[in-house]
Amino acid sequence: MELKDRTILVTGCAGFIASHLVEELLKRDNRVVGIDNLSAGKREFMKGILSDPNFHFIEDDLLTMDLTSSLKDVDILCHFAANPDVRLGASDTKVHFDQNIIVTYRLLEAGRENGVRDILFPSTSTVYGETEVIPTPEDYGPLLPISVYGASKLACEALIASYCHSFQQNAVMYRFANVVGPRSTHNVLHDFIRKLRENSSSLEILGAEPGTSKSYVHVSDCVNGMIAGAEATKEQVEIFNIGSLDWMTVKDIADIVTEEMNLEPEYQWTGGVRGGRGWVGDVKKMRLSIDKLTSIGWVPEMNSREAIRRAVQEILT
Ligand SMILES: NC(=O)c1ccc[n+]([C@@H]2O[C@H](COP(=O)([O-])OP(=O)(O)OC[C@H]3O[C@@H](n4cnc5c(N)ncnc54)[C@H](O)[C@@H]3O)[C@@H](O)[C@H]2O)c1
Repeated sequence: MELKDRTILVTGCAGFIASHLVEELLKRDNRVVGIDNLSAGKREFMKGILSDPNFHFIEDDLLTMDLTSSLKDVDILCHFAANPDVRLGASDTKVHFDQNIIVTYRLLEAGRENGVRDILFPSTSTVYGETEVIPTPEDYGPLLPISVYGASKLACEALIASYCHSFQQNAVMYRFANVVGPRSTHNVLHDFIRKLRENSSSLEILGAEPGTSKSYVHVSDCVNGMIAGAEATKEQVEIFNIGSLDWMTVKDIADIVTEEMNLEPEYQWTGGVRGGRGWVGDVKKMRLSIDKLTSIGWVPEMNSREAIRRAVQEILT
């Protein structure tokens, strides 16, 4: 899939990952239309792109707006808008259904009506559920998510694959490990830093010591990986994992955060739920095989620890 000199619609363009992706797409001489309702995204995250003549921003809600005109003359649909809060699914099952599945369906319908050929979609490691194979490759199955969020993203993947076959479209879908870096607004780093700023002598940590083991990838590596994957793909529907080669526990993360803040708090583990998880729907072990993407030449510059350390420094400055 060519990512140069194309007209690209990016949903969720004011959010964490998509705002970085748009910057990269504009550097590659694409024309980008961005849609975001600023529910989680921020105008300040787009300060480097709002004045770019090749960028046009529409502030609107994808669940209710008329999408047909927005997808006119679009070559590629990059659908990044979503509600990515995994925890929410255990208390409100409708949010992910509406914001993730229905919004994706609406965009796919408007896309096919307008003859949009190519689709890029960020999916998630949570579609795998609790796997028996680690690192988990893209062809692992059965896919049995344990969160409504994971289920909603898997439903989106399935819808996209079926549209590709039914309406001669192409898609590249990415299953991300945990992405960290500038403009993130909700993750374990923000949680720890906020708590330590309130009380530097003790740190409440959700779960049972040493917490879940997961893989982390910096947003700069994530964006490079997406572009490398899209440009290399030859299949009508392609899936790439994007992560790093290692993983780390929540305790490892707490150690890095406290070291970077020059603090020595006492850790207070909550004990967690359902066998020590941080919250209902929290996968205990996640590391993705990234062999498919590295075999085409992409290599993450940072491992999980380096990505976490860099992200903590970026939040603290
Ligand atoms: N951050 C991660 O670690 C991670 C991991 C796996 C997958 N993903 C996926 O990547 C994508 C981006 O995630 P992110 O972390 O940047 O999230 P984010 O919340 O920062 O970005 C999502 C953006 O979508 C916008 N949005 C949400 N609902 C909307 C609606 N109805 N209409 C218009 N705009 C709407 C929000 O305002 C926000 O700017 C999501 O699809 C998410 O599922 C993220």
